[in-house]
Amino acid sequence: MLRTVYIFAIVCWLTLIAVGLCEEATLHSDEAPRDDDRLKGVGAKVVILEEASRLDEAVFTEVIVPLLNVRDTAMLAISTPLDENNFYSTLLQMKDPQTDGPMFRVLEIKLICEACAAKGIKDVCPHRRELIPPWKNDHRREIMTKALFEGQPRMYMQEQLGIPSGSDARCFDVDSIDRFVATSADMTNDPQYVFVGIDTCGGGNNFMAIVSGCYNRSNALQILAVDTAPITSDMQLEAEIASHATRLRKHISRNAVLVSIIEANYGGWVQSSRIAHLLENHGPALHVTCDKKQENRRPGIYTTWEIKERMRHELQRMLRENRICLFSEVASTRVGDVVELAKQLKRCEYVYKASTTSATVERKRMITGKVNGQNDDMAIALMLLSYWSAHFINVNGKCATRL
Ligand SMILES: *[C@@H]1O[C@H](CO)[C@@H](O)[C@H](O)[C@H]1NC(C)=O
Repeated sequence: MLRTVYIFAIVCWLTLIAVGLCEEATLHSDEAPRDDDRLKGVGAKVVILEEASRLDEAVFTEVIVPLLNVRDTAMLAISTPLDENNFYSTLLQMKDPQTDGPMFRVLEIKLICEACAAKGIKDVCPHRRELIPPWKNDHRREIMTKALFEGQPRMYMQEQLGIPSGSDARCFDVDSIDRFVATSADMTNDPQYVFVGIDTCGGGNNFMAIVSGCYNRSNALQILAVDTAPITSDMQLEAEIASHATRLRKHISRNAVLVSIIEANYGGWVQSSRIAHLLENHGPALHVTCDKKQENRRPGIYTTWEIKERMRHELQRMLRENRICLFSEVASTRVGDVVELAKQLKRCEYVYKASTTSATVERKRMITGKVNGQNDDMAIALMLLSYWSAHFINVNGKCATRL
């Protein structure tokens, strides 16, 4: 399979020599072409990925992997590794299923030896000093760079010492997620409003998540039903909404109002209106909207990065303060959906997205759980639910908004 493929995490000059010797296709992450299509169909003897961990993962899977399928193609990848969720870190640890040995040949250069790392030393250790290349071996400069990395130990470890450290970019703390999914509470009230958070399909995957809940007497959000399903047709969408709403209705009164919170980012007003309409088949419903039009507001909300951050913050607070719990009979179509929800929450992290148009514009901070092609639809649906259900007001009998 990928027998002939090797990864060398190796110093730059080797890369340069290799470029000189081979028919090369060098992808610098910072100038990776915007449309990968231009790269396709190119055969290569040696693929060299410089700063591989920064390469867009889509370019790797769509362009590089097919190239590697061609006999006698080799890949050289060099990079300072990013955190363990990065695809490059995954490659380094991949095992050949047949031999159980490493899939790639990996050469790691760390400036702290195992023994010193075990002692908790977080700086260049005396046993690895000789690895510092001559052009960097300058004590005064070392002091200066260290000072410049002050307050960013993770960055220092990563960039100067070549050591990836655990992600400190997580959006939610793991302990409170574990606490939340371990809860199991009975319903002690007959809620007047039940909120339905819906993350619609889009952004590279076809999963839709629906997470519903209501507030108990002490104002804690109780999660009543969670679902995630791949949606590829309108019929499926209809069936999924119907299934979710029917299960919800078993536990709440016929007069309880379903308040939809539908993200319209991908499907636009058309899809959010369609989903809202489908929900209306299942009793009284209201729809949260961010439509600015005063008359005839359409259901659905667009989440900017700023709003996503507010959503994250609200959920994080609820998790920390134990103001969110699971209904003891939490209803979902597939076993394991709650486990999946917890996994997605733990995966959510901040990533920095470079501007595609300018190198000088500040990089955008984004929240995502789509690490290594995995989904984050349930986590997003829960964030929608926790933020938009707070302090909502009924605008006109059909739509609601957040105060
Ligand atoms: C509401 O849920 C919270 C969180 O689980 C719980 O601590 C609280 O006791 C519940 N309140 C009522 C009145 O059931």
